[in-house]
Amino acid sequence: MRYNSPLSLEEKLRFKVKSSNLNSITEIAFYKAIVNKKSPNKVAKMPKIRVALIGVGNCASAFVQGIEYYGNLKQEEEYVGLRNPRLGGLSPDDIEVVAAFDVDERKVGKDLAEAIFAKPNNAPRVVEVPVTGIIVNKGPVMDGVGKSTQNILQISTLPDANVAETLRAANAEIVINLLPSGANQASRWYTEQALAARCAFVNATPNFIASEAIWARRFEENGLQLVGDDLVDQAGSTALHKTLLELLSMNGVKITETYQLDVGGGTESLETLDRTRETKRIIKTESVESALPYKAEVVAGSTEYVDFLQNKRDSYFWISGVYFCNTPLQIDLKFSTVDAPNAGSVLFDVVRALRIAADKKLKGSIVPICAYAFKRPPKKMSIETAEKAFEKFVTED
Ligand SMILES: NC(=O)c1ccc[n+]([C@@H]2O[C@H](COP(=O)([O-])OP(=O)(O)OC[C@H]3O[C@@H](n4cnc5c(N)ncnc54)[C@H](O)[C@@H]3O)[C@@H](O)[C@H]2O)c1
Repeated sequence: MRYNSPLSLEEKLRFKVKSSNLNSITEIAFYKAIVNKKSPNKVAKMPKIRVALIGVGNCASAFVQGIEYYGNLKQEEEYVGLRNPRLGGLSPDDIEVVAAFDVDERKVGKDLAEAIFAKPNNAPRVVEVPVTGIIVNKGPVMDGVGKSTQNILQISTLPDANVAETLRAANAEIVINLLPSGANQASRWYTEQALAARCAFVNATPNFIASEAIWARRFEENGLQLVGDDLVDQAGSTALHKTLLELLSMNGVKITETYQLDVGGGTESLETLDRTRETKRIIKTESVESALPYKAEVVAGSTEYVDFLQNKRDSYFWISGVYFCNTPLQIDLKFSTVDAPNAGSVLFDVVRALRIAADKKLKGSIVPICAYAFKRPPKKMSIETAEKAFEKFVTED
């Protein structure tokens, strides 16, 4: 499903401009320009969405490369690989990275365009990124380095930046947490920095932040938005698993046992093996179980690390059940993806949806974004219900 197809957008805009239920002067100018068939860029450009990245790892690399890749395309029809070329009138080109933080000496002090390709990152290089002028700041290490990554990461000796102050100076509006999954303490610390700098916060990691009422309340009290936890993938193994189970059980098949096991090669797979195997397993198993209206033996989210796979991931699915007259069936499936690009399209949707939320003056945990884009939202919904809630949120005033 794509939101805001050109025709329905124009109809919606006519209504918006007529009823003047717009939130900001720039928004009114932008919409009026489209209704009057002028290029909005020539009349009034929507201010770019100013994003700060915590952790310049593989996901950050895919995100920054994606902004450049899609920004270079002339026609929207060329935007292959995006769920929503435009969302709320915004394209990926409307996203701008204004600050970034890491701890590795191969990234800290370097321009973001160089840092995203520095080792140990191994996300594929799909585009050349010109010098950005954004120098990666040093963040405090805290629990950002685990046992398994201590021989891989090379900690910079540069002094730690004042993170809240840097976010404020960069005029960042959204902070995206892309720390290693075991960095629980650091994730919470950066959440505090986002609050202090008055930024919305995206927790893409499997640490529990947006799903904890206390954080949602603090963001609400500060008039800011919070979304998370644990980003879903665009071509996600959990979604594929759940869809298969839903389809089978809807047709009367009784699933008795099922598992999904991953093998990957990025630093994050190593990290998962070492520090977050259990958390990941809980999140994914709970999520897959919710696809069945009855109890079955479910195991999902166990990860193995194979270094030569680089940033690739192989997911293995096994489903066993019975159908008519107790006849057995089995599915044995392998699904291969590359990890980092799998986060790009969903992150683009999250960032643009957060701009919409801010324009609507929403605060605290933004339930439709969380349910649509995260594996452990504060309120769980089926894939279909989450899709509908997100569409309604994006298109309705
Ligand atoms: N498709 C996906 O890749 C996907 C999907 C869902 C969730 N996630 C989550 O996104 C997060 C990032 O994944 P990734 O593959 O980019 O990981 P990564 O290991 O490639 O990147 C993590 C980065 O954080 C940096 N870092 C460590 N401690 C730090 C600190 N204290 N301050 C600042 N930077 C620090 C590391 O040097 C590294 O550059 C993970 O938590 C992962 O679970 C990823």
